Amino acid sequence: MALDRVALYVGLEEKITSEQVCAFFALVKRRIGHEPTAYITEHKEFFGLDFHVASPVLIPRPETEMLVEQGIEMGTNLFADSCLIADVGTGCGAIAIALAMNLQHARIYATDISSAALEIARNNCHRHGVADRVILLQSDLLDSLPEPVHLIIANLPYVNESELAELGTEISIFEPVLALNGGVDGLVFIEGLVSQAERNLLPGGAILLEIGYDQGQAVCELARMHLPKSEVSVTKDLGGLDRVVSIRTSP
Ligand SMILES: C[S@@+](CC[C@H](N)C(=O)[O-])C[C@H]1O[C@@H](n2cnc3c(N)ncnc32)[C@H](O)[C@@H]1O
Repeated sequence: MALDRVALYVGLEEKITSEQVCAFFALVKRRIGHEPTAYITEHKEFFGLDFHVASPVLIPRPETEMLVEQGIEMGTNLFADSCLIADVGTGCGAIAIALAMNLQHARIYATDISSAALEIARNNCHRHGVADRVILLQSDLLDSLPEPVHLIIANLPYVNESELAELGTEISIFEPVLALNGGVDGLVFIEGLVSQAERNLLPGGAILLEIGYDQGQAVCELARMHLPKSEVSVTKDLGGLDRVVSIRTSP
C-alpha cells in the first residue's frame, strides 16, 4: 500500500474503501504486536537517505551516523586521492551507501555473512545509484576481501549474548539475532575483525568501529594488542557514551 505524502494530501477528500480500512487495521495490529514501524513501512531514514529495510536486516540507528561522519572526514582529508573502503557487516547497506553518496571518489566493498541482508543492500545500492561503486560480498568478516583498503568501517554485532533478552520486545523478537549477538563478551566479531585488519589495510590505513557504551577500554586494548603501532581513540556520542573507536595505523 505505497502512497506518498503529496498523493495523500491531494486525495484527502476521497472516500476510502473497506479493503483499505482492513489493510490499515492489519498494519495497526502489527504495530500493537510491537513490530517496529520501520519493518511495517519497509523504510528507514538514515543520514538523510531513505533505505528499504525488512526482517533480515537491522534497522539503522541514528547513533551509527557518527561512524559515517567520521568515515567521510577520513575519506575527505586522509584519503583524498584514492579511497578504498570496506564496510563490514553492511546489513541494508546504510553505511556503505551513505559513504558512497558523500565520497564520490570512494570505492567500497560492503560485506555481510547473510545473503538475505546482501539482497536488501543490493536493492538499496540500485535505488541510490551507487551500484557501480559499492561492491557487495558475502563474507565472514574480511575473509573474502579481494584487496587491502584504506579504511575499514564496521558496526558489527556487539551485544553480550547474556544481555540479548534484556533488549526489549521490539528488538529481541523482531530484529535478526545475527545482527546483534556479539558472543560471550560482546566482542567476538570486533576482535575477529581487528585481528584480520593488519593484512587487509594499506599502509597508513584506518579502522572505525561502532561499540557498546561500556566497551571503549576493552576495544582500545584489543586494538593496541593486534596493531601495536597504531593511534587509538574513542569518541563519545551525543548522550556522552563511548560510541566509536578510531584506529590509525602508521604510514
Ligand atoms: C549491527 S548489524 C549492522 C548493520 C548495518 N551496518 C548498520 O549499521 O545498520 C551487524 C551486521 O553484521 C552482519 N554479520 C554478523 N556476523 C558477521 C560476520 N561474521 N561477518 C560479516 N558480517 C556479519 C549481520 O548479518 C548484520 O547485518
